[in-house]
Amino acid sequence: MSDLQALETEITAAIEAAGDMAALEAVRVASLGKKGSVSALMKSLGGMSPDERKEMGPKLNGLKQTIGEAIAARTQGLRNAELEARLAEEKIDVTLPIRPESQGTIHPVSQVWDEVVQIFADLGFSVAEGPHIETDFYNFEALNIPPEHPARQEHDTFYFNPRDDGSRMVLRTHTSPVQIRTMETEEPPIRIIAPGRTYRCDSDQTHTPMFHQVEGLVIDETTHLGHLKWCLEEFCKAFFEVDEVKMRFRASHFPFTEPSMEIDIGCSWEGGQVKIGTGDDWLEILGSGMVHPKVISASGLDPEKYQGFAFGMGIDRIAMLKYGIPDLRAFFEADLRWLRHYGFSAFDVPELAGGLSR
Ligand code: PHE
Repeated sequence: MSDLQALETEITAAIEAAGDMAALEAVRVASLGKKGSVSALMKSLGGMSPDERKEMGPKLNGLKQTIGEAIAARTQGLRNAELEARLAEEKIDVTLPIRPESQGTIHPVSQVWDEVVQIFADLGFSVAEGPHIETDFYNFEALNIPPEHPARQEHDTFYFNPRDDGSRMVLRTHTSPVQIRTMETEEPPIRIIAPGRTYRCDSDQTHTPMFHQVEGLVIDETTHLGHLKWCLEEFCKAFFEVDEVKMRFRASHFPFTEPSMEIDIGCSWEGGQVKIGTGDDWLEILGSGMVHPKVISASGLDPEKYQGFAFGMGIDRIAMLKYGIPDLRAFFEADLRWLRHYGFSAFDVPELAGGLSR
């Protein structure tokens, strides 16, 4: 066997024997590296006679190539083996039972959000969404709240820094901008709810800077106040899981509805616990009204042809009422003891057929 063949056999054996990437790299350096055996032979070509060089040149290049290919193949082999080993190690048996120590819970806001969606889905509503960062147009202007309107003060708005054109984006102060966005993009009949986060610069036992609302909007050619009352009565009965619920519709004012009503539900207090549905006390739970014609035309629809109702309700607030949770701030403190106490099992998926909250 020639010296070259012996060298090739030796190096390819070393490549095959390399058990990991570091060992393989050592073989590469010892052969093809700057001071490696093959590189040294390549350098010796310079000192050969033209005839010798003509014979040895192709042989050495062939050797270099063979070794390069062997290293590439071994690299791939090692990588595959590494992946196989990792996959084998990371395999999980999905048929294993759930570990008893798993203690995650569904937050009451998520649970109530799902309950609300279930109830309105059953009434034929679909769910709409809008951005949390809004323009002045959607949050105020199109909702018939012009720049100097006092309602702007009541909203304790979080403003962003002015943009180049001087306008300022806001964190939406209510879910009502979704009314406009929906009417702009959908053809009536419209029947949507829009649950989501809202923001106001306010914090005490019943206010947090971020909270949740659910907007409702129905637009067609015939919907009237009677439909609004029926719809919300059905919602309250289903949500509080009672057969009868006493409701009071109180005249109120919102720039984007006319007429406007706030809705209270009857309740009683027994031993510090509130009982919903009956009793002589009242709890305010939502704002509502017939959508103002100006709002309908600001959204690009014809107010002569279309009409309907809208409402807005605090999700956190109805969660507190239904599940007897006293302090709103605790909702967002991520205290594990609180979450374990008020949270829901992931298996308690709200659905009407089986009883909403079982
Ligand atoms: N957007 C009002 C609020 O945040 C609630 C509301 C919505 C009232 C729709 C009427 C109609 O207070």
